[in-house]
Amino acid sequence: MSATSADTSPEELKRCCGRLYESDFAKLLLGDSFHPGGLKLTERLGSLMQLTAGVRVLDVACGTGASALFLARRFGCQVIGIDLSRQNVLRATEAAAAQGLSDQVKFQHSDAEQMAFSDGTFEAVICECAFCTFPDKNAAAHEFARVLCPGGRIGLSDLTRDQELVEQLKGLLAWIACIADAQPVQAYVECLRSAGFDRYEVEPHHEALIEMADQIRGKLLGAEILVGLKKLSLPGVNFVTAKELLKVALETIHDGRLGYTIIIASRPQLHGDEAASSRGDDARTIDTPRRR
Ligand SMILES: C[S@@+](CC[C@H](N)C(=O)[O-])C[C@H]1O[C@@H](n2cnc3c(N)ncnc32)[C@H](O)[C@@H]1O
Repeated sequence: MSATSADTSPEELKRCCGRLYESDFAKLLLGDSFHPGGLKLTERLGSLMQLTAGVRVLDVACGTGASALFLARRFGCQVIGIDLSRQNVLRATEAAAAQGLSDQVKFQHSDAEQMAFSDGTFEAVICECAFCTFPDKNAAAHEFARVLCPGGRIGLSDLTRDQELVEQLKGLLAWIACIADAQPVQAYVECLRSAGFDRYEVEPHHEALIEMADQIRGKLLGAEILVGLKKLSLPGVNFVTAKELLKVALETIHDGRLGYTIIIASRPQLHGDEAASSRGDDARTIDTPRRR
């Protein structure tokens, strides 16, 4: 993974991202929850979004389903999770079955930039630590708005930067590690605004990123030792490249130039005639995805 993100097509960037997060390496470094703050921060996101029983939630780029399953248990929501990695979708589906949540939580393969759901299907959309990896963020933001019903809420949690990143943090590996295309908070807000969202709430959680990065450093060193002792096999993992990236990322995170932030926004409510013509659209079950 020595190529730069500029050399790589959007489709290849997305494929590389999917491959990394379905790998044993990702599971080893990150556990089940692939974002800073883990399920504690997912709970905070759910509370800020005022999720309640029966609310239809879409978890965009759901990884192996930890957050979707947690939201169903904690708030009683109905959740659909989508991810670009078919292997993650399979693992998430198996986890739902193992937890007896198959009726309440479903997973399917889909690209966040082009989703196969009808307009207004959901009351809430979450996207944790993944928006920063989407090559076409405007397309994804418009999809979030489209699949939400009027008054529905988007909850992003993502890496943020407050100045230009150094060159070492702009390569392909840095992109799929959620760093290279992290945006300033204001840029995320503008992206959501241009997709039609309003009423923003922003809550910084930089401490969660520091904690996660420090844990990854320890786990990476542990993994390298185990691979050296032939007690662990991680084919294709280049520890030299991974450690170089992590070193610069840690400096940048500890300096406060990279952070982690929750951003909530709403799709405006409809008024008058618009509201009347959309009535009857609010059945509480999630409909079958349409083909695109
Ligand atoms: C850092 S992980 C976050 C996973 C999950 N949200 C969590 O917090 O545990 C990023 C996830 O985004 C998925 N992904 C990347 N690009 C995607 C896209 N265009 N559409 C759907 N999923 C995507 C990857 O397959 C990966 O599972």
